[in-house]
Amino acid sequence: MRHLLIVYHTKTGNTGRLARAVHAGATDDQVTGVEVRMLTAATAGPADLLWADGLLLGTPENFGYMSGALKDFFDRTYYEVEGQLAPLPYAIFVSAGNDGAGAVREIRRIGNGYRFREVQEPVIVRGIPAAPGLALCRDLGLALAAGLEAGIY
Ligand SMILES: Cc1cc2nc3c(=O)[nH]c(=O)nc-3n(C[C@H](O)[C@H](O)[C@H](O)COP(=O)(O)O)c2cc1C
Repeated sequence: MRHLLIVYHTKTGNTGRLARAVHAGATDDQVTGVEVRMLTAATAGPADLLWADGLLLGTPENFGYMSGALKDFFDRTYYEVEGQLAPLPYAIFVSAGNDGAGAVREIRRIGNGYRFREVQEPVIVRGIPAAPGLALCRDLGLALAAGLEAGIY
């Protein structure tokens, strides 16, 4: 079994909705060889990263940045896993009021520090998530899981 980790933060529920859609895609019946673990950023830690073969990161955009909780996840895990991770394939999903680009940019900067490997374009959903944005998130989860299962990632 390959392992896919979803780490997200939500304050008012929008990113939570995106995360559930990502999870639904990642656990699609088409994919049988991937175990999925979904955790909030506050509860995820270094052991989860060491467990993972792939990673999906979700956050609201706050003040043009990722949420403090996701940043804290990075702060709490960077040195703990340094030198122990293969370049993890990963992708980003963001819930934003109107932009989302700042959160993506800064996650990428930190991801480069971990030597994560971005394998899908980020999904940015603006406003309250509706069917099209949720479908993109579902596709993102499925793409990561299917890619891991097929050995593409
Ligand atoms: C303190 C704060 C700062 C925010 N800053 C931004 C921002 O810089 N850019 C943006 O597009 N949306 C911003 N928003 C809007 C949130 O990104 C948006 O409401 C998002 O859907 C919240 O996700 P959540 O429901 O998962 O907490 C901000 C919201 C809060 C509470």
